[in-house]
Amino acid sequence: ELHRIPRPPYRLPLVGDVIGAHVRSPVQDSMRFGRRLGPIFRRKGFGKEIVFVWGAELAAELADETRFAKHVGLGVANLRPVAGDGLFTAYNHEPNWQLAHDILAPGFSREAMEGYHPMMLAVAERLMDRWDGERAAGRAVDVPGDMTKLTLETIARTGFGHDFGSFERSRPHPFVTAMVGTLTYAQRLNVLPAPLAPILLRGATRRNVAHMAYLNQTVDAVVAARQHSSGEGDLLDRMLETAHPETGERLTPENIRRQVITFLIAGHETTSGALSFALHYLAQHPDVAARARAEVDRVWGDTLLPAYDQVAKLRYVRRVLDESLRLWPTAPGFAREAREDTVLGGVHPMRTGAWTLVLTTLLQRNPEVWGANAEEFDPDRFDPGAVRSRAAHTFKPFGTGARACIGRQFALHEATLVLGLLLRRYDLRPEPDYRLRVAERLTLMPEGLRLHLEDRAPAA
Ligand code: HEM
Repeated sequence: ELHRIPRPPYRLPLVGDVIGAHVRSPVQDSMRFGRRLGPIFRRKGFGKEIVFVWGAELAAELADETRFAKHVGLGVANLRPVAGDGLFTAYNHEPNWQLAHDILAPGFSREAMEGYHPMMLAVAERLMDRWDGERAAGRAVDVPGDMTKLTLETIARTGFGHDFGSFERSRPHPFVTAMVGTLTYAQRLNVLPAPLAPILLRGATRRNVAHMAYLNQTVDAVVAARQHSSGEGDLLDRMLETAHPETGERLTPENIRRQVITFLIAGHETTSGALSFALHYLAQHPDVAARARAEVDRVWGDTLLPAYDQVAKLRYVRRVLDESLRLWPTAPGFAREAREDTVLGGVHPMRTGAWTLVLTTLLQRNPEVWGANAEEFDPDRFDPGAVRSRAAHTFKPFGTGARACIGRQFALHEATLVLGLLLRRYDLRPEPDYRLRVAERLTLMPEGLRLHLEDRAPAA
């Protein structure tokens, strides 16, 4: 019943809707198509027809867990060779999903988060040592590069008691290079014709095999190191030591390997992007930065090291982060499949298992929800009053339902803490001619973003 769903007007035989599309920017291309075609549309690339949704009512319907569930498809399915039945890539019916979810959920409780807080602070201090040096030397900082160091070290330290030594390196850690390679490869598979992919990607496939081997090897070393030490209840300890509270079942070594890779990747790549976009917007909007900084001064006062409870009190800083995640949700969409035969929006029949992609980037810029100025950066959209009056299920950077992000609180705490610390310490100045370019590798990242750091101006 696809004929009711609008599609681009010029479809080429065999290849599909490729006019105006580019292999490097499938998300931004889809945003452009979607704006023209409306709240539900389809695009065909090389035999694969994908239906996208960004209408508020349709998205709310898809959030109904009685009718729909996560679909492991597209980019997520392409990561199965790396992440297997780890939490992120597990099919809903795979028993390891529930088992790992139940074993790991306490690792994201309030108590657990309080335990991670001092480690998060320690990593942020290393970032600031580095940035102090760059400031003193009058050099601009590489924001996505440094945010990736920060978030990788944070998840490695808090989750696995591991230190990648990112801040002691001038180039990215090889784990990051391998990860970015694997994510890019998984995205490329989406936009190339399946029968031709092995030929077109021959070199890339060989590199991907090497990248996956490197990821596995890194993870095995992290797990092996634990044989000689205790992680004092971190994520790895939970996986190695904890049996399911009711069934007594445990995770297998192979599954633990998949989970460690999953957490090392999911636990840092998207948070790094979120922090980078937020810093970009803060540098572009000095009025917002001044307001956020005033809040940090008021809430933290002279405390050198803010306590756990002092982070959630940065309400305005959190709105800056939410607004950045609205414009550029760094995981730009999520797929939903029908649990039973159903009709979406009263007009689009879906058979059991049929799926559609919620395009978060457009849903969160839908003018019917966010107003005529939806494309503009304005953290006041997240004032409590404004949030209350908005339709439900229209802000979904962490996905939805049972398979929503398990690390949401972790990411929000880490990012709010770091933004608070950086605002307190530096004035962020953009490079005069920088225009935001967004790089895609399943996740989104501002490309080439550099900022100049200055001593913060004295409070007015
Ligand atoms: C799932 C976004 C940070 C671990 C998801 C999903 C989204 C998302 C959209 C659902 C994907 C789907 O439906 O297919 C984000 C964003 C983050 C972030 C935007 C940062 C700003 C984190 C962190 C961790 C993490 C810090 C771990 C420490 C996971 C895991 C899943 C997941 C394990 C799979 C959950 C399941 O299916 O049970 N994330 N995430 N994420 N995320 Fe995150």
